Amino acid sequence: MNWNAIAYQKQHSYVWQHGESLLELLNAQPDEDITDLGCGTGQLTEKIAATGAKVIGLDSDRAMIAQAQANYPHIPFQVADATNFELKTPADAIFSNAVLHWVTNAEAAASQIAKSLKPGGRFVAEFGGHGNVKTILNVLSKVTGKALQPWYFPTISEYSTLLESNGLEVVYAMLFDRPTPLGKTGLAGWLAMFGQRFFPELPEQRWQEITEAVEEEAQSLYQADQWVADYRRIRVVAIKPLSKNPTV
Ligand code: BEZ
Repeated sequence: MNWNAIAYQKQHSYVWQHGESLLELLNAQPDEDITDLGCGTGQLTEKIAATGAKVIGLDSDRAMIAQAQANYPHIPFQVADATNFELKTPADAIFSNAVLHWVTNAEAAASQIAKSLKPGGRFVAEFGGHGNVKTILNVLSKVTGKALQPWYFPTISEYSTLLESNGLEVVYAMLFDRPTPLGKTGLAGWLAMFGQRFFPELPEQRWQEITEAVEEEAQSLYQADQWVADYRRIRVVAIKPLSKNPTV
């Protein structure tokens, strides 16, 4: 996927700002080997590094990795895909914020994550959960006449079952609404960054018309003088058991 890493970093900082509370759940310790899966421009990777953990940031997008490396030259970053990344040594923890909804082959990602953890290692993740951006998606489908569900937004039971079938024990799972203010560029900026890629055939002028029509129809998301996306997050912590049979 090709991203405009500069625009992402400048205009969509809410992505990693919201991820900061996930770092508390990660609770990184000095010298732990931690992988930040889908690190984007590296802001949360840097916070993990600041704990003294040995972190590597992985992202499938070259532009994101180039920007992350420019931002934080002291941290290793690497282009790698969530469905087939390989680590030099298994990780104490794999952390992932606001990325796994882009990985529609969730089975391959879960399998790779499980394989890449040490026994006793943990997977700590947050991404879009069931019902995420429902209003935006419904309105976009209505306006374009194209039924759109390009992301993976699982329920707790779907995702827990997936992790469990890959040998991980889910010790925490939560699905919650997190209305998210979209900053200065508002809904138009969100659509341009995250939605326009699914309509590559449309001329810019037609995309502008669609954006205006979506804004018109999605007025319920305009609250107290700003656009607020109807985000719904799934958060999970899962452990790779020390023994293959966790009851033993
Ligand atoms: C999200 O963070 O929930 C999200 C961002 C972009 C597209 C879809 C979902």
